Amino acid sequence: MAEIVRVYIDGKECLAQNGEYLLQAARENGIYIPTLCHYEGVKPKGSCRICTCKVNGRLMTACTTPIAEGMVVENNTAEINEMRKAIIELFFVEGNHFCPTCEKSGDCELQALAYKYQITAPRYPFLFPTKRVVAEYSRIIIDHNRCVLCKRCVRAIKDAEGRSFFAYRRRGQHIEVILDKRMSEQMDYEKALEAEKVCPVGAIMARRIAFTTPVGHRKYDKKPIGSDVEKIK
Ligand code: SF4
Ligand code: FES
Repeated sequence: MAEIVRVYIDGKECLAQNGEYLLQAARENGIYIPTLCHYEGVKPKGSCRICTCKVNGRLMTACTTPIAEGMVVENNTAEINEMRKAIIELFFVEGNHFCPTCEKSGDCELQALAYKYQITAPRYPFLFPTKRVVAEYSRIIIDHNRCVLCKRCVRAIKDAEGRSFFAYRRRGQHIEVILDKRMSEQMDYEKALEAEKVCPVGAIMARRIAFTTPVGHRKYDKKPIGSDVEKIK
């Protein structure tokens, strides 16, 4: 039987299985830690840093940090939230995110996080990078203006043999997601929709379908991000 340990998140005593990731342990105890690159059921990567908490006084990503007995975690504090706001703002200035014209608006995790943290305008200057919109694939369109390089598509969208449909190419500021040419021929309509869903923003859009859920009725139009986790205080 799994060993149960005690951790303290913002002073609240929480019980969870030893070795479980802090993010999961927090969720099981009704505590929301924001995420962007994390996707339930997929091995965490720890790239976006939004889930960063102070663990025993050190900054650690909650999605990749296993818990241990007596761990003391700072999550919902002014200092940590300020850092998270800065990260969210950086995502906005480093890409080109025009929410009113994006099909993912209302279902977008980045947009929902901005609302959650009450970001009205980023403190940093917009970079307005020149990015491509790739419409060469038969099932999807990739809009690099919106991609936050979370790698969720690469890690989660696979065929029955475990081969990824997506990959990264190039490095540094030129890095971008591509759909493998050979795999793209195998991509059916369901896989395209799955990829659209896995992408936290509107960077992957399935072709020939849009606005099936009208604006105003989408996931975060109804409830803020994290409300499924947070217990009524
Ligand atoms: S296309 Fe979407 S899922 Fe893939 S890396 Fe970019 S933001 Fe993440
Ligand atoms: S959700 Fe943990 S680093 Fe992105």
